[in-house]
Amino acid sequence: MGTIAVLGAGKIGEALLSGLLKSGRAPEGLLFTERHPERSAELEATYGITGVTVEDAAKRADLLVVAVKPQDIESLLDRLSPVLRPETLVVSLCAGLPTALFERRLPSGTPVVRVMPNTPMLVGEAMSAVSPGRHAGPEHVRTVTELLSCVGKVVEVPETQQDAVTALSGSGPAYFFYLVEAMIDAGILLGLPRAVAEQLIVQSAVGAAKMLDESESHPVLLREAVTSPAGTTINAIRELEKHGVRAALLAAIEAARDRSVELGRAHED
Ligand SMILES: NC(=O)c1ccc[n+]([C@@H]2O[C@H](COP(=O)([O-])OP(=O)(O)OC[C@H]3O[C@@H](n4cnc5c(N)ncnc54)[C@H](OP(=O)(O)O)[C@@H]3O)[C@@H](O)[C@H]2O)c1
Repeated sequence: MGTIAVLGAGKIGEALLSGLLKSGRAPEGLLFTERHPERSAELEATYGITGVTVEDAAKRADLLVVAVKPQDIESLLDRLSPVLRPETLVVSLCAGLPTALFERRLPSGTPVVRVMPNTPMLVGEAMSAVSPGRHAGPEHVRTVTELLSCVGKVVEVPETQQDAVTALSGSGPAYFFYLVEAMIDAGILLGLPRAVAEQLIVQSAVGAAKMLDESESHPVLLREAVTSPAGTTINAIRELEKHGVRAALLAAIEAARDRSVELGRAHED
């Protein structure tokens, strides 16, 4: 993979750098760029990696990971374009930015791979979906998959599915946090102290997530196993169905997909 430079070491960029170091990559093979000198110094002290300018990163790295906010992309590409070596692999973690935008602005033939990660990257449990651009081949997808496997799981999808991925796993952690928050409120409603309600629900979420991940069973079977005849769970399920929670989730995720499409349009030709 050679030298990797992360352009924009904010939340996601730092999580990736930290994951790469934890997986055994040497700090000498990692570079980053940051706008604020104090942030740069903090990252250098914490991880023993070197902060450089965008121009230096382009000269020295074999793989560039772009992790700036979408609104900063134009100015970054302005700086990158004149100095980028054509064979450098560019990996974009920027939500909603099509590979075509990078291909238009960077030297002709630059391989670009688009990635939609999510925030559990901060704890090494990201779900990332990768899509190759026009000049990226299977070898580039393999390299990016290997890179992101240090911080979670990786799946390849055609770029046309990235809006759906954004709605499902990109925003996905927020839906679970929302559900947990509502369930803690329910605990308060039933008279439990907040701290107890929080512990009960967070550990139930961790346990349920582990069962989903580790057991071979379908989620329906896992739910049925807790739903005994004339029991408490089926009473709760009846209320969830009565209030249209399943339909609300379908509509919510569809709305997130539509917004992602809308945001992407801003970067079309
Ligand atoms: N967080 C998420 O849930 C999530 C999920 C999926 C994808 N993403 C994508 O990941 C990217 C980064 O998100 P984030 O949450 O990590 O944002 P963030 O914390 O704001 O990090 C971006 C960093 O890049 C720096 N930066 C901006 N322009 C730069 C430049 N020209 N040179 C060097 N550094 C520059 C920013 O500095 P300043 O502080 O000066 O602005 C900031 O430190 C975004 O494109 C986002 O769409 C994020």
